[in-house]
Amino acid sequence: MHVPTLIVRKREGEELAAAELSQLIEGYTRGEVPDYQMAAFAMAVFFRGMSPAETAALTRAMLASGERFSHRPGHPPVVDKHSTGGIGDKVSLVLAPLVACAGCWVPMVSGRGLGITGGTLDKLEAIPGFRVQLGLDEATAQLERLGVVMMGATARFCPADRKFYALRDVTGTVASIPLITASIMSKKLAESLDRLVLDVKFGAGAFMQTRQQAAALAASMIEVGREMQVEVRALLNPMDEPTGRTVGNALEVIEALECLDGGGPTDLRMLVLELAEAVAGVPQAELAGMLDDGSARRRFEAVVAAQGGQAADLGHLGELHRAPLVREVLAAHDGVVATVDAGWIGQAAVQLGAGRAQASDRVDFAVGFDRLVKCGERVSRGEVLCRIHARSAVDCEAAAAQVERAIAVEIG
Ligand code: URA
Repeated sequence: MHVPTLIVRKREGEELAAAELSQLIEGYTRGEVPDYQMAAFAMAVFFRGMSPAETAALTRAMLASGERFSHRPGHPPVVDKHSTGGIGDKVSLVLAPLVACAGCWVPMVSGRGLGITGGTLDKLEAIPGFRVQLGLDEATAQLERLGVVMMGATARFCPADRKFYALRDVTGTVASIPLITASIMSKKLAESLDRLVLDVKFGAGAFMQTRQQAAALAASMIEVGREMQVEVRALLNPMDEPTGRTVGNALEVIEALECLDGGGPTDLRMLVLELAEAVAGVPQAELAGMLDDGSARRRFEAVVAAQGGQAADLGHLGELHRAPLVREVLAAHDGVVATVDAGWIGQAAVQLGAGRAQASDRVDFAVGFDRLVKCGERVSRGEVLCRIHARSAVDCEAAAAQVERAIAVEIG
């Protein structure tokens, strides 16, 4: 295989053969194809797209790069949900233990922050000691014991996506339907699922800006699922304003814990229940009871303990990750909140340090936003629109300027 030729052919819009894609992914995973060639290939795909056959072949090649879960005979339904990425989206942290309480197995393999969207793994790592890199044996044992494991791709499990995801994050090649499809579906297929629900986001804070694009992404993932005999359902959800009232890793975990305790913001709870019902096949009222009676919270604590964290730390994450500066942004006048632009808030969060500029960057768990107002809420002059958690005064000023653009209060 001559990689430069392959890149040129893709750049010119040619359809590549399954064997070629498989060799490319194999070479990349083994370190024989360098990042710069893979980045050029990703950009060619970004502009030229892929046929359904190519997308399926890329997914299969990425799936074949590593190991897969193999569940014991007679296992309960193995299910998962995956979001295409949003701002303030901490749904997975609540949904995974909740659905396990409903009797399903949830071997959740998630990603890190990508572009302006946050990632479940970065959020989980805000819990001191929490290990997201598990071997398949350990993950399987935990799944059998607790019904849920929350982990990332490793050098052996979905290694192709682990490398490619990090590369796409910093090369402007995230928002591509075939690349998102292959990334998500290769991880989900490696979980050997019976059922998958996809939360496909569209709007200012999503990779897909319009409902139409989100529908096309959903169709692409459903098609790959059908080929691989996994029942895939997709819900299309707007991502115009952040989910809940927090954005930033530790701040989002704190809010997810509120939801696991039966509280938290209404939009977060509703989204969790809607997606959990779709994938677990259990009525929302029953699932709500498992949040309200503490069962889901206890299951999450068991996961934290099993994966190296301490449940006792969950009660004081705010102190463990306290940003040096916390500044309130106040409403300049009375009115109704018309916009909380998730795109601007997401960008501001990344610039505060909650996301990455380079693949090797470490995220800052403490920074971000909390107490965010929601669209439609009435505010009075001087009321808090949000709080900025920042590492430095310069960062704080820059974030404040972005918040001014993001939050619009209409007089009325
Ligand atoms: N989530 C993923 O796992 N991969 C993508 O490419 C986008 C969102």
